[in-house]
Amino acid sequence: MNKKGFENKIEGFSKISKEEKIKWIEKNYFNNVSNPILKNYWNNDDSLQKIHDEFTENTLSNFYLPLGVAPNFLIDNKDYTIPMVIEESSVIAAACKAAKFWRNKGGFKTSILNFKKTGQVHFIFKGDKQKLNIFFKNNKLKFYEDCKEISSNMKKRGGGILNIELLDKTHDIDNYFQINAVFDTVDSMGANFINSCLEQFASTLKNEINQCSDFTNSDYSLEIIMSILSNYVPECLVRAEVSCDLSEIDQTGGLSGKEYANKFIQAINIAKTQTSRAVTHNKGIMNGIDSVVIATGNDFRAIEAGVHAYAAKSGMYKSLTDACVKNNTFKFWIEIPLALGTVGGITNLHPLVKWSLELLKNPNAKELMKIVAVAGLAQNFGAVNSLITTGIQKGHMKMHLINILNSLNASEDEKTKLIDFFKNNIVSFSSVKNELEKLR
Ligand code: MEV
Repeated sequence: MNKKGFENKIEGFSKISKEEKIKWIEKNYFNNVSNPILKNYWNNDDSLQKIHDEFTENTLSNFYLPLGVAPNFLIDNKDYTIPMVIEESSVIAAACKAAKFWRNKGGFKTSILNFKKTGQVHFIFKGDKQKLNIFFKNNKLKFYEDCKEISSNMKKRGGGILNIELLDKTHDIDNYFQINAVFDTVDSMGANFINSCLEQFASTLKNEINQCSDFTNSDYSLEIIMSILSNYVPECLVRAEVSCDLSEIDQTGGLSGKEYANKFIQAINIAKTQTSRAVTHNKGIMNGIDSVVIATGNDFRAIEAGVHAYAAKSGMYKSLTDACVKNNTFKFWIEIPLALGTVGGITNLHPLVKWSLELLKNPNAKELMKIVAVAGLAQNFGAVNSLITTGIQKGHMKMHLINILNSLNASEDEKTKLIDFFKNNIVSFSSVKNELEKLR
């Protein structure tokens, strides 16, 4: 007998058709009332819809997010229009503003500081540590050899396994060791490649230790816990920077160049020392980063996890950006870990991802890291610039106005009138509602 609240269990949901899934949802959650919304968001082109259906499981429909662009970015003396997928108002506007601001001051300069990814085989070994170390040294080549087939393609593209080492982690957990492996996955994010290599390392470890004459069965026990890449990528690091003479920022926000730079640096110092501010500061950076990462078909969860861990690498969560004034030059920069790919995954499948990459002139992974870091730096510049001058709400609420008007079902005519009215009035949900009611 079903208990209340457990009536909706279904076996084999994944096997029934999309139409049947929708019917089941309607029956069990919407009192059999059908709503056309899910089907309205299907693509008219069946083959295109099928691609989207197959990205994941139990697909019912598509979920739209706006794709916008930020033109006028000058990065390492090349022009870019950056695609951004984001639902939050003001983000793209801020990116556009920052791009324009820095364009005639030399633009953004970038460099790749490092380009390595890692993964670990986590295992428990009970036995003679010394013997394990010697075994690993003597059999290192076998680990590479057993991965030959998996890594042959990656090798042809210029990457592969860069190093493997045995790490003694017994001070953290009793009998716990890792095989730590370092990879270059060239233009792919490389998750599948890394995980396949790691699983092979795990089985090589098991097989070889079993056959090793230094160990008898009663000598040791080995348990592989798991083999998985790490999204902590502090060695897949990119730097982006802007700089200019103080005279070039004179009268920004009504401040002298020196006053502006000092106030800006104070804002950064606060984010470098106060976690409460650092989280919001970095969230603003991620507005720029995530929107380009999504537009280019990369895994924003992996990027987010890696970036925030990096921000806390000193033991305290801090700003990802920094600024200084030296010899009358204001400098503002970001150093950020970004393990991105421009091949593999959905990069060649999702039509809008393909379009976005084309818009960026089909960058390789390193070039994409640079562009994404710039998007983060530009976003942070936009936010801090507003915060230390006009305040954030001025720009924000103007952009948010359109969302409020849409949520109140304003007509196009009403929108035009109210956008004009709120050029000189303070936007809030109630003030917009009041003005709309007056119009009606
Ligand atoms: C809002 O999405 C992001 C900001 O809060 C970032 C910041 O405060 O630096 C404006």
